[in-house]
Amino acid sequence: MYAITGATGQLGRLVIQALLKTVPPEQIVALARDPSKATDLSERGVIVRHFDYDQPDALAPALENIRSLLFISSSALGARLAQHRAVIKAAEAANVEFVAYTSLLFATSSSLNMAYEHVVTEGMLRDSGIPHALLRNSFYNEVFLSIAAPAIQQGVIFGSWGQGRIASASCADYADAAAVVLTDQDRSTRTYELAGDTAFTMAEFTAELARSTGKPIVYKDLPKADYRAELEREGIPAAFAEIIADNSAGSAKGALYDNSHTLSRLIGRATTPIAATISKFLS
Ligand SMILES: NC(=O)c1ccc[n+]([C@@H]2O[C@H](COP(=O)([O-])OP(=O)(O)OC[C@H]3O[C@@H](n4cnc5c(N)ncnc54)[C@H](OP(=O)(O)O)[C@@H]3O)[C@@H](O)[C@H]2O)c1
Repeated sequence: MYAITGATGQLGRLVIQALLKTVPPEQIVALARDPSKATDLSERGVIVRHFDYDQPDALAPALENIRSLLFISSSALGARLAQHRAVIKAAEAANVEFVAYTSLLFATSSSLNMAYEHVVTEGMLRDSGIPHALLRNSFYNEVFLSIAAPAIQQGVIFGSWGQGRIASASCADYADAAAVVLTDQDRSTRTYELAGDTAFTMAEFTAELARSTGKPIVYKDLPKADYRAELEREGIPAAFAEIIADNSAGSAKGALYDNSHTLSRLIGRATTPIAATISKFLS
């Protein structure tokens, strides 16, 4: 049986959708912090089990009879290490045969501060001895929609993205890749650097947004500290503002760029360009 953590999240739901194309629902276990959010999945025949990273003792029983686990990284940035350790220990205790983990593009050499928790988690997986695949995802196209919405209102995008090229792909592209890896007969330990086929600078993203909305929108590049201050001025909590500013400044140095086309090869089709995600958002 296949199990997916974070099954009620954006990525988890799309992975289950992708799996259902080839796997009978009774072979899929949706692991949910709040099973009441997954009633639509149980109505489709998917098995739903309670799975809260913060309740370590309950995790191994929830993994009973699971051969392949998609471990979607926790959304609790900065507090993930204890949670991730608990999930990997539970997978060991439950004799899970294979784990696919959603990491970050080029995690071990990434300049992004958020890489740290992924690198440590990758090390925990290595130490566990469980055969595993590292799905080192670049950013989702959808991440940039949170920049687009206020920009359409205000006519400006601030950031420290510089001339860095961003090779993002849609969340559905990464979900399809996770489903392919999870159902593959290959149980060898391996790493995938996953990114979009096409890349853009933030100035190009801004121009595409202006073109598709017909509104004047400009990009204003700022030093990292100024961008962080701007985010705080807009009401974003300091710790989160630091993460966003760090991602932006890291991207200026190429942290979100990859040209290997590994993702499109894995899913057997081109990845979704940012313009298509913008267009879907606006319609
Ligand atoms: N590559 C990127 O651009 C990108 C962007 C955003 C996030 N991420 C990473 O990728 C992961 C998946 O992305 P996403 O868009 O699907 O995020 P999401 O929509 O926020 O979903 C996160 C999932 O994790 C679950 N979760 C949170 N805390 C948990 C806990 N203590 N125990 C068990 N489950 C817990 C959530 O459960 P609830 O439904 O109960 O909240 C939800 O199902 C994120 O968690 C984050 O690590 C990557």
